[in-house]
Amino acid sequence: MKAVFIGPPGAGKGTYASYFSRKYCIPHISTGDIFRDEIAKGTELGEIIKKYIDKGELVPDDIVIEVVKKRLNQPDTRNGFILDGFPRTLNQAKALDEITQIDVAVYIYVPIEIAIERLSNRYICPKCHRIYNLKFNPPKNDLRCDYDGEKLIRRPDDEPEVVKNRYKVYYEQSHPVIDYYRRKNLLIEVDNSSSAEIVVVLLEKTLIERGILKLKPCNPNVSIR
Ligand code: AP5
Ligand code: MG
Ligand code: ZN
Repeated sequence: MKAVFIGPPGAGKGTYASYFSRKYCIPHISTGDIFRDEIAKGTELGEIIKKYIDKGELVPDDIVIEVVKKRLNQPDTRNGFILDGFPRTLNQAKALDEITQIDVAVYIYVPIEIAIERLSNRYICPKCHRIYNLKFNPPKNDLRCDYDGEKLIRRPDDEPEVVKNRYKVYYEQSHPVIDYYRRKNLLIEVDNSSSAEIVVVLLEKTLIERGILKLKPCNPNVSIR
């Protein structure tokens, strides 16, 4: 399955991409995670993109497209992949069409009030990128990752003021991508306002029934949390 998971900040793209990646053993490619790693490592690219990410602005298309092109060239993408947070502009969507044909665009959305509330409780593991939520999916041990014990962190761009700007940028620049895939008949829409356990079952069922998800699970007992 070659999928893109798109939608506004805090909608749940990473949460669901991680679930399908772990269950079906296809790579979860989050441009946001790739960029945060570059910033943490202090690379030249990290230096360039930090100013955009901290303000909630988009990283320029040429940089993002180059990063994705390189990643999709890796052999682990042969059986499929999930792109999380890419494409985010029409230019990026057209560039992706030049690289490969995707099977589905999953549009995940929640109202901004729910996103702000969820993002204010989000912690992430900087090592393995797992996503936690103090209310919905808390870590077992005091702010340490359940899988590798790494100290969990908050994202600097999760402050409510930056989240509001990310939403503004989303509606101005990224929302047209939804229509782009709707016109191509590739869009599946997911309202993630309710419980993730229910939402994921419906999404998985839809993907299987429509013949988009044909892979056999490599880890059948994966849970959303
Ligand atoms: P990115 O990291 O992609 O951020 P984003 O798009 O703003 O989305 P988030 O990661 O905040 O939310 P999510 O939808 O993944 O939600 P999650 O699953 O964590 O991008 C960051 C920045 O990088 C951008 O601002 C930009 O600067 C740059 N960038 C990245 N890609 C780019 C591109 N293509 N072009 C240009 N620039 C780019 O869920 C949120 C919380 O809710 C979690 O705590 C989760 O546990 C919880 N949760 C999820 N579902 C439920 C549920 N049903 N019930 C209760 N809680 C839930
Ligand atoms: Mg994310
Ligand atoms: Zn971890």
